[in-house]
Amino acid sequence: MASVPEVPAELAARIERFGSVRFDEYQDLALYGPDGFYERGGRAGRRGDFLTSPETGPLFGALVARYLDEVWRDLGEPDPFTVLDVGAGPGTLAKAVERAAPACSGALTYVLVERSAAQRALHPRHLALTAPEQAFPPEHDDGEDVPGVAAPDRGRGPRLVSLAELPQVPVRGVVFANELLDNVATRLLQRAPDGWDEVRVTLVDGVPSEVLVPADDAASAWADRTVGDDVGSGARLPYQEGAARWLRHALELLQAGRVLVVDYTATTPALAQRPVGQWLRTYRGHARGGSPLDAPGQQDLTVEVCADQLAAVRAPHRTTTQAAWLAGLGIDSLVEDGRRIWHERAHIGDLAAVAARSRVGEAEALLDTDGLGAFGVLEWRV
Ligand SMILES: C[S@@+](CC[C@H](N)C(=O)[O-])C[C@H]1O[C@@H](n2cnc3c(N)ncnc32)[C@H](O)[C@@H]1O
Repeated sequence: MASVPEVPAELAARIERFGSVRFDEYQDLALYGPDGFYERGGRAGRRGDFLTSPETGPLFGALVARYLDEVWRDLGEPDPFTVLDVGAGPGTLAKAVERAAPACSGALTYVLVERSAAQRALHPRHLALTAPEQAFPPEHDDGEDVPGVAAPDRGRGPRLVSLAELPQVPVRGVVFANELLDNVATRLLQRAPDGWDEVRVTLVDGVPSEVLVPADDAASAWADRTVGDDVGSGARLPYQEGAARWLRHALELLQAGRVLVVDYTATTPALAQRPVGQWLRTYRGHARGGSPLDAPGQQDLTVEVCADQLAAVRAPHRTTTQAAWLAGLGIDSLVEDGRRIWHERAHIGDLAAVAARSRVGEAEALLDTDGLGAFGVLEWRV
């Protein structure tokens, strides 16, 4: 007899209490609950479960560092200049940005915002962290320093801080989210013959199983507005309220600067025409996993990000692809430098030569129009 997969205790308890949970609650607990995928050690990286741009090597971080300098200069070189790297994972991007030593370094407060405690525990292993109370000292309401509490020294950055949530202080700088929003839990709606259903999850003999219930009025009205009658019965849509909420919050925190989202993006009407298994995917150990209801907590659960749902919060000032964005930041010249250094030093075979050669391969992965290069880059200016 096949064994019944283990269901995280908190998820089982919620289902026992309410009969079923909405799909977004299921996804949230499967990813971030005490026995969720990320708390069990799931992560980005070559030794992790999936490869992201920062994990291809230091080139991506060197280009992000150039982007930070562009914004810093554009804002009039503020000090502190705060970067919120949201969904920072193990901190690989932070390390690469620090190593690239951008011009803004002296003013830089770089905050790794990471929800998973297991991943936050990795930050101090390779980064010299500043305590949050030193990086964000309390201020009076009028913005004056509190006597006896030292403000961070101007020009003495970079200060690296690790937090579980977005700091509740207004900032000047950049909110950066690389492959964050595809990992934020989504509601799932399904077209019914006479309206919309919502996907919920229950347990049948201990096995996670779907139940469809009529969607509430607000969700049905949203689905009607978004795709109308254009989809047949049984078609599914992601209703990404969580991602929209996150964007609203990020925009509110920024006094001046940019929100930059990099992710695999699509539009809601386009997803409604595709089978749900194509855009709601699971990963485990660098391979595609099973159904989203299989082995909750043991596989990553990710969804293509609907750019139209983010644009409904506020229209982005710029939408482009990762390949075009990195070209604008000068990836070609960095790769040319890499080729030159490799030719000059290949016979020595030292670290500089090896790093230069690997830069060429990293660029190919970052620009691949069938992969990371096709990712959407959305920028909001405040
Ligand atoms: C797909 S990983 C990407 C990691 C990293 N940005 C990269 O590109 O390699 C998404 C990360 O976002 C984190 N995360 C999800 N929701 C979050 C939130 N609301 N705040 C902070 N981190 C979050 C997850 O724990 C996970 O580490």
